[in-house]
Amino acid sequence: MAKMWAGRTSGATEKLADDFNSSISFDSRMYKQDIKGSMAHAAMLSAQKIISDQDAKTLIDGLSDILEDIETGKLPIDMECEDIHMFVEQVLTERLGDVGKKLHTARSRNDQVALDIRMYLRDECEEITALIKNLITALKTQAETEKETIMPGYTHLQRAQPVTFAHYLLAYAMMLLRDCDRIADCKKRINVSPIGCCALAGTTYNTDRRYEAKALGFDGICLNSLDGVSDRDFCVELLSDISILMMHLSRFAEEIILFSSWEFKFIELSDAYTTGSSIMPQKKNPDMAELVRGKTGRVYGDLIALLTTLKGLPLAYNKDMQEDKEGVFDACDTVKMCLKVFTGMIETMCANKDNMLAAAQKGFINATDLADYLVKKGLPFRSAYKISGEIVALCIKENTVLENLPLETYKTFSDLFEDDLYEDISLKTCVEKRISEGGTSVSSVNAQIEYINEKLLSI
Ligand code: ARG
Repeated sequence: MAKMWAGRTSGATEKLADDFNSSISFDSRMYKQDIKGSMAHAAMLSAQKIISDQDAKTLIDGLSDILEDIETGKLPIDMECEDIHMFVEQVLTERLGDVGKKLHTARSRNDQVALDIRMYLRDECEEITALIKNLITALKTQAETEKETIMPGYTHLQRAQPVTFAHYLLAYAMMLLRDCDRIADCKKRINVSPIGCCALAGTTYNTDRRYEAKALGFDGICLNSLDGVSDRDFCVELLSDISILMMHLSRFAEEIILFSSWEFKFIELSDAYTTGSSIMPQKKNPDMAELVRGKTGRVYGDLIALLTTLKGLPLAYNKDMQEDKEGVFDACDTVKMCLKVFTGMIETMCANKDNMLAAAQKGFINATDLADYLVKKGLPFRSAYKISGEIVALCIKENTVLENLPLETYKTFSDLFEDDLYEDISLKTCVEKRISEGGTSVSSVNAQIEYINEKLLSI
């Protein structure tokens, strides 16, 4: 096929080389951004008297027809083309004749592709953020009904201190809020326009880069043309942010898998978000959570792949950079799917309060509160800690729990023990008394929910 860039060369390339070189199979998804960018470019060229108003109108109308024809399916994207930029320009020229050939004045595919990716990714930021917000809302809704549901909190996966299920869920909501902040920050650096940097050095035409940037909704322009066409930091940044987000989802997924196992049975996933086994009739597998955990690996791979692609590149544009898109698109597609599935899974999940409480009643998770009781009565914490440890050891030996040990036995350890100790070590008190900011008490959980509500409105 004759190349639009044929001139210096005859344009005759090997089919294998063409296929290798082509990016249309994955960059065709940026057709809308490419066309919108070209419309703004034509408008700028006429505003600056580089082309006539009539030519600009013809180009803009032609581009708008192409957009409509692609969207209605009238114009299938030709996969034989090198990339989406060439495809749009080729169709425009076929339809408009020589006027179509004027569009590429004062630009290059190098600034054009950078523009398209930035426009594409800023929309992705919006979509991902909206999906994170849905998940946060699902967590908050579950938390509202679980403020008094006591479960063991763990460190080293050993029962540590009692927390409420609401408090536990809100920990993930906080992580997800930070993910929203990170993506919003990244979007600031995405939303800077490279168009007008041209191939690498700017142009001799009297262009107005800021006019074009403003028309396309950018906050500013790249101030160095070499940087403008070779910068893919924003792709790396978004990939990092998505990787962190996936890491959060993966940690959560791991706990969902654990907590829905027979060994824990703290939660029950809805049938709608589980699968059966082809051989074992009793199975209800948390496949969705496992897949989220599994897909985290591929997103990390996308990040590392791009960092590695970029690390040895000299300025400015190099064809290696065409490798930027598949990874970043894959990461966006993957995280969006994971967020949707996760939200459904959380919305339909049920807490098994009895099992959570039963687990909390084992493991001496009120031992810290026993020590705190003695501190309250005047003993230094280290001494109180030692006595409590000895009492726990006795309970283990006698196969009992702190709540059931008689007061006389307590008194053999310290005279400070009185009848009120049982109130202090009840799990309900242990949770209720943790009123420090960010703690697990109902009042603190309510404050967290209030904070989340405010944040959700501001994102
Ligand atoms: N398809 C190319 C890419 O994705 C577009 C830019 C091509 N520029 C060039 N000088 N060959 O990076």
